Amino acid sequence: MFDIRVPATSANLGPGFDSLGLAVSLYLTLTVKEEAEEWEILHDLGEEIPTDKTNLIIETALSLAPDMKPRKITMVSEVPAARGLGSSSAAIVAGIELANQCADLQLTVDEKIQIATRIEGHPDNVTPAITGDFTVGTVLDSKVYWMKASFPETALVVTIPDKELLTKESRSVLPESLPFKEAVKGSAIANMLVAAVLSGNIEQAGMLMEQDVFHEPYRGALVPELASVRKLGHEWGAYGTYLSGAGTTILTMIHPEKAAAFVAAAKAGIPDSEVKLLQIEKNGVQVIR
Ligand code: HSE
Repeated sequence: MFDIRVPATSANLGPGFDSLGLAVSLYLTLTVKEEAEEWEILHDLGEEIPTDKTNLIIETALSLAPDMKPRKITMVSEVPAARGLGSSSAAIVAGIELANQCADLQLTVDEKIQIATRIEGHPDNVTPAITGDFTVGTVLDSKVYWMKASFPETALVVTIPDKELLTKESRSVLPESLPFKEAVKGSAIANMLVAAVLSGNIEQAGMLMEQDVFHEPYRGALVPELASVRKLGHEWGAYGTYLSGAGTTILTMIHPEKAAAFVAAAKAGIPDSEVKLLQIEKNGVQVIR
């Protein structure tokens, strides 16, 4: 018996659309138990999530190791579904690790990232779920180029509106193309954001996080809470606020000493939302025996 623990992740960080990601301290945990006649994955996450081999985790594992013997598994998840915190990426990464352990595939970190990105479609959630901390990635000719770096110290406050938003729907409001000047501006902002993170300048990184031109201007109407939380962040001296992944979660980075007061203000000021104080998770997927 062993556990597989995968962190939730927050993608984009504003201008780093489909490229930047951060692992955060909420977890999907599988307890992998004895072999059984059929695959069984027990959870209390609702009827829409399958408990048999049609579950995304098992499907992913079987796609890598079709001859794996069925197992009994229990799953506990703190990662809310369809809220922009990487729940499907966590499931895919858990499935890859399940096959890696049960079929002794001996996958490297890079191999896990290549496989997970092929399944998920973009590297920004799966990469930090595998490596932990902050990651930058891009896909060129079907190969993922990625790097992991240490994110500067900050508290993370997530405001999770009480409504789901599927990535597909959130992507459907994005434009087909951007004017050349706008695209150059967006790219330069993202470059500067990565430079600020790598040089440990959290104040500048936070400011740049709020300057996205690729997706937030179009998604703002789907998640009106983004503007309210950002305004609150300015009032409480936060570093920066952005739409986490495709939404609906909004992530605010703030000095740890100011975080508790900001959490209280967000709880009082943003209706129909859950507000949580999190940390950056430095570890990616872990196997615990
Ligand atoms: N980068 C993706 C998006 C993350 O914003 O649509 C969601 O999967």
